[in-house]
Amino acid sequence: MTAKNGFKRNIIITGGAGFIGNHVVRLFVNKYPDYHIINLDKLTYAGNLENLKDVEERPNYTFAKLDICDFEAVLRLMAEQDVDGIIHLAAESHVDRSISDPFTFARTNVMGTLSLLQAAKTYWEGKPEGYEGKRFYHISTDEVYGALKFDGTLFTETTRYQPHSPYSASKASSDHFVRAFHDTYGMPTIVTNCSNNYGPYQFPEKLIPLFINNIRHKRPLPVYGKGENVRDWLYVEDHARAIDVIFHNGKVAETYNIGGFNEWKNIDLVKVLIRTVDKLIGNPEGASLDLITYVTDRKGHDLRYAIDSTKLSNELGWHPSLQFEEGIEKTVRWYLDNQEWMDRITSGAYEKYYEEQYANR
Ligand code: NAD
Ligand code: DAU
Repeated sequence: MTAKNGFKRNIIITGGAGFIGNHVVRLFVNKYPDYHIINLDKLTYAGNLENLKDVEERPNYTFAKLDICDFEAVLRLMAEQDVDGIIHLAAESHVDRSISDPFTFARTNVMGTLSLLQAAKTYWEGKPEGYEGKRFYHISTDEVYGALKFDGTLFTETTRYQPHSPYSASKASSDHFVRAFHDTYGMPTIVTNCSNNYGPYQFPEKLIPLFINNIRHKRPLPVYGKGENVRDWLYVEDHARAIDVIFHNGKVAETYNIGGFNEWKNIDLVKVLIRTVDKLIGNPEGASLDLITYVTDRKGHDLRYAIDSTKLSNELGWHPSLQFEEGIEKTVRWYLDNQEWMDRITSGAYEKYYEEQYANR
């Protein structure tokens, strides 16, 4: 890969072909034409370059198909592109998969994050200015805090870590490694813990896109347990805006919680999805309610997540921009308007697309 010179900053965004990553890449490529944005992604089943078609030809965008666990390759890329910032989103992200295959989660989320940290340390410590002007920003999840009861309490930045699933345990471990690199080596790190995101381009194994697609095809909607678990939902572009604000203005070594103050019981959310999809595809109201199918609960299913993002609002002025009803309607419309995107994923055709596009690069 040839270096792109003359940019004010060279920033690696890992996991840029995934759900949240593509929104972050798009925001940075469009908002900062003087930054060179390098999307480092292994393209696992969850990575989809079709998500970034609108920016792939931009002069300040580069794609690097790499595994974050490949220390030597990441170090080489950092040196070639003289990277001064990393926004780290690459991860295995689906709780159900972590329950059946925890090793993959430890490898990518723990060892991959460590390999990325070590590459950044090696490259930055070898520069005359050292860590000055550098930033390693790690994107994490509210799931590291464990589960709340139905008592109105919220996760704050000082809530004790108590992960329950292999996914959240792997993310918790990666958070600790990031903080350890600050405390031990002085690396300028930041960690943020965000609640559930929703919006366009989410892989349809997650609740919202899966259920929208199932309603469209009149397929059963598998609600785990009694559907009483609560999640705090944030529109994905609001998360991307928070990442922008924190990357630029957040204080080194700090943690910020990001959330929407927007708690929904799963079953109530499912009913909102049914109402919205039925309305938009012209079904009579309530037509899809009988698709709701209660199934065996997820093992170790966390009861409730809810984030207190007051620190972020007070210190950096970030607030969620969208009301939930507006965000859900926008999201449902997007999936209905982009049925080919969904169909290519569910048919497996998008993986073939990579083979054709990237086999010889
Ligand atoms: P995702 O599964 O949609 O995307 C993950 C991306 O990482 C994919 O593009 C995949 O190809 C890439 N990737 C996976 N393993 C890799 C490896 N070894 N090397 C390089 N790239 C690799 O995930 P998402 O939902 O966009 O989540 C992104 C990040 O945000 C994750 O770290 C996740 O823990 C965190 N997060 C997600 C949510 C959410 O609601 N989705 C909420 C809070 C935090
Ligand atoms: O809280 C942040 C986390 O949100 C992120 O760190 C994860 O990467 C992300 O996947 C998400 O985790 P959840 O497990 O909360 O998301 P998911 O969409 O898988 O499930 C949302 C809720 O819906 C959860 O309580 C489980 C339930 N569910 C999910 C699926 C896929 C169902 O009832 N049926 C389903 O088929």
